Amino acid sequence: MNSLVEDAQKAGARVGMTADKIVINGGKPLQGRIRVRGAKNLVTKAMVASLLGDTESLLRDVPAISDVQVVRNLLEVHGVLVSEPESGELVLDPRNVKSAHFAEIDAFAGSSRIPILFCGPLLHQLGEAFIPDLGGCRIGDRPIDFHLDALRAMGAIVDKGYEGIHLTAPDGLHGANIELPYPSVGATEQVLLTAVRAKGVTELKNAAIEPEIMDLIAILQKMGAIISVEPNRVIFIEGVESLRGYTHTAIFDRNEAASWASAALATEGDVFVEGAKQQELMTFLNIFRKVGGAFDIEDDGIRFYHPGTPLKPVVVETDVHPGFMTDWQQPLVVALTKAEGVSIVHETVYENRFGFTEALIEMGADITVHKQGLESVTRRVPRRPLEQAAVITGPTKLHGADVHVPDLRGGFSHLIAALTAEGRSTISNVGIISRGYEHFIDKLKTLGADFSVAS
Ligand code: EPU
Repeated sequence: MNSLVEDAQKAGARVGMTADKIVINGGKPLQGRIRVRGAKNLVTKAMVASLLGDTESLLRDVPAISDVQVVRNLLEVHGVLVSEPESGELVLDPRNVKSAHFAEIDAFAGSSRIPILFCGPLLHQLGEAFIPDLGGCRIGDRPIDFHLDALRAMGAIVDKGYEGIHLTAPDGLHGANIELPYPSVGATEQVLLTAVRAKGVTELKNAAIEPEIMDLIAILQKMGAIISVEPNRVIFIEGVESLRGYTHTAIFDRNEAASWASAALATEGDVFVEGAKQQELMTFLNIFRKVGGAFDIEDDGIRFYHPGTPLKPVVVETDVHPGFMTDWQQPLVVALTKAEGVSIVHETVYENRFGFTEALIEMGADITVHKQGLESVTRRVPRRPLEQAAVITGPTKLHGADVHVPDLRGGFSHLIAALTAEGRSTISNVGIISRGYEHFIDKLKTLGADFSVAS
C-alpha cells in the first residue's frame, strides 16, 4: 500500500470513514435528498489564510473530509489552535505560530498538495517555510514551477533539497508583476496568499478566476486585504502590513454537487442536492441539459433527475472557469455510457485524467482514450499539448466488476458505474473518496443504494 493511500485511509478514519471496500448491487436508481457543504477547494485554502491574521478566524460549513483533516493537522503542527465549537465550524487561532520540524510536516502532509500554499503565510509569519514532497491525486505530473517562480518574483529564496523545499525571505517579500503561463488555480492562490502582506503592489496576469478563488478573495478582503479583480484575468493586490481574522461561510462544493447530479442521471434517479446553487454551476447545467438530464432550481438547492427520455451524446472539453471543470468529467462520463451515440470528452487541464475509464471498460463501457486531442469542426482550437480525448459510444449496459479506486473523482465515477451496473461490484480503496466527499457512505444510504461496506 503506498503512503498516499495510507494517509487517505488514516485521515478517512478520523472523519468517520473507515471502510476500505464497498460491495454494491447495482441497478437501483438513486432517489432522495442530500446536502453539500463548503467546497473542499475553498475550505482548505481558507484554513491556510487564517495563518495570515493576527486574531482568530471562524470558518463555517466545513465538510468532514480527510483533506480538511490534513490541513488541520498541518496548522496544528505550526502552532495554530484549532477547535470545532459546532459540527461544521472551525475556529483557527494563529497567535502562537511556530516553525515545525521537517519530519512532522512530512508526516502530516502526505496525501495533500495544500502544503505548497503555506509558503507565503509562513514566510510572512516566521521568515521561513518548508515544503515536503507533494502528494495529491495521481492525475499527472502536477508540477509546482508556477508557484516557485511567483514566490521568487516576490523575494523568496528557494532551496531544493532531498527531503523537500526550504524557503526564506531575508529581505522580506515584495510586490511583483507576475504573468502565469496558464491560469493555474493553485498558483493564483499562492500569489494571493503571499502578495496580501508583501510590500507594494502585485499585478497578477492570466489569473484563475474560479468561484472558489473569488471566495478566497472575499475572505482576504474581510481580513483587511486590498485586492481588485480586473477584466481579462488580471488581479491587483496592494500589500498591507497586517491582517486580522475572518468570519466566513464557505461557498458550496460545486464539484460534489455535479457528482451527485451525474449519479442521479446515470442511475435514472432523482436527487435533490441541498446547498447547490445555479450561478456557479451554469456551465455544468448546460451540458447536463444537452445530455438529456432535467433539473429544477430552488432557493435551497437543485433537483437533478432523469426525465425518462433517452440520453443524448455530447462533445465537451474541460477548461478553466468559466469552462467545464476537469473535476466534472469523470462522473459525467458514466452517464455518457448510457447516451445514444458517440460522445467526446477532451481533457485539457491535466495530462492523465482518464485512468478511471479502464475500470468502466472492464464493466462493459465502450470507451477509447486517445493520447492526443481530436480534430473536429465543432471544436475550438486544441488547447494544450497535454490534452487527451475519450470517445464514449453508447448506450452500453454495464455489469458488475472488482475495481480499485485510483483517485478522488475517478473513484466517485466508479461508485456511480457500480450503482448503474447489473450485478455486484466490489470497489476497493474507497477511503480515498473521503478526501473530497463528505459522508458519502451515509449519503448513498439516504439515496437508497443497495450496498455493504467492509474495512
Ligand atoms: N501547473 C503547472 N505548474 C504549476 C501549477 C500548475 O504546470 O506550478 C499545471 C498543472 O500541471 C495542470 C494545470 O496547470 O496541468 C492546472 O493546475 P492548477 O494549478 O489549476 O490545479 P491545482 O491548483 O493543483 C486545483 C484543485 C483541483 C482542480 C484544479 C483545476 C485544489 C486542492 N485542487 O488544483 O481539484 O482539478 O484546481 O480546477 O484546489 C479535485 O478536487 O479532485 C482536484 C484535483
